[in-house]
Amino acid sequence: MGETWGTGGTRVVDGSDPSIRLAVRVLRAGGLVAVPTETVYGLAADASEPEAVSRVFAAKGRPADHPLIVHLASGASLARWARHVPEQANRLAEAFWPGPLTMVLERHPSVLDAVTGGQDTVALRVPSHPVTQRILRAFGGGLAAPSANRFGQVSPTTAHHVCDGLAGSVELVVDGGACEVGVESTIVAFEGDDAVILRPGGVTAEAIAGVLGRRPRTAASGTVRAPGMLASHYAPATALELCSAAEAAPRVAALSSLAKRVGVLSLGRTEAPGAAATWDAGGDMAVLARSLYHYLRQADAEALDVLVVALPPEEGLGVAVGDRLRRAAHRPVP
Ligand code: TXA
Ligand code: MG
Repeated sequence: MGETWGTGGTRVVDGSDPSIRLAVRVLRAGGLVAVPTETVYGLAADASEPEAVSRVFAAKGRPADHPLIVHLASGASLARWARHVPEQANRLAEAFWPGPLTMVLERHPSVLDAVTGGQDTVALRVPSHPVTQRILRAFGGGLAAPSANRFGQVSPTTAHHVCDGLAGSVELVVDGGACEVGVESTIVAFEGDDAVILRPGGVTAEAIAGVLGRRPRTAASGTVRAPGMLASHYAPATALELCSAAEAAPRVAALSSLAKRVGVLSLGRTEAPGAAATWDAGGDMAVLARSLYHYLRQADAEALDVLVVALPPEEGLGVAVGDRLRRAAHRPVP
């Protein structure tokens, strides 16, 4: 078992078989284990143990009425968690599980209130990351897991990020490398025959439309049912200024002429001579999604005053990226 110690003395192990067994032992004893998923790292606890679930809220500093996603090894055990599974949900599960899709379904009566925040629905997801798949299969039950960060902060996409944010409050971190998708799962609820996107994420609206034969609705931003839908979330300390790709270079010039330390992040390269940091994703939206939280953290590490971000096109994964950027950009530009 490869083992290291992260920030704050946190125990970090690799994805080897002994590590998986250790993770399962900690989970069965009611402990917290940070696990890699294809979206972001999750802070996992046994979803059927009220005390374990309450530890998740304490570790994150998260309000108790904000519900958690239950992670399962496969859709085969869905009937143990959801009372009713609409036809569309079955089709989406078939198409996108394992993967970055969460579905909000009518809860089975046995699901803990601590997990659902007392709502009559439960959020369920089957992650595809091979390490967490092995943990889930060995564990057998459901793992309640929010993103493994302090409430309101940027989600972790590496084991190192987890240690930085949760040192001292997680027993074990399983390192499965950098997350491939990099933004959280798409959350879909069902209203009658309609699929409604509550949070855009790793599975695009276009892909869902391709399976269901029509485009899902997107929940109006006023209807906050999920903390990930609060206006300010996923926020770094650095102020963000969002603009179009064409405006990015002039904004950098204007802000740096005011003696601000300015960075710029864009999908394709931005030539901005005054910038202290220039980051781009080589024009590849998947790369931008994958590296988004890394760059938000870098902005803080570089002690930037402002990060100017060129918003990507509002299509495909760009919808989730734009959503996270708008929530991260709540601090006034100094
Ligand atoms: O990609 C992801 O979804 C990651 C990884 C770890 O799986 N998890 C994640 O969890 O982002 P968290 O707790 O940071 O965000 C879960 C979101 C919250 O906004 C929560 O309110 C929403 O899911 N949610 C959970 N249960 C719900 C329910 N019954 N109805 C509506 N929203 C729900
Ligand atoms: Mg979160």
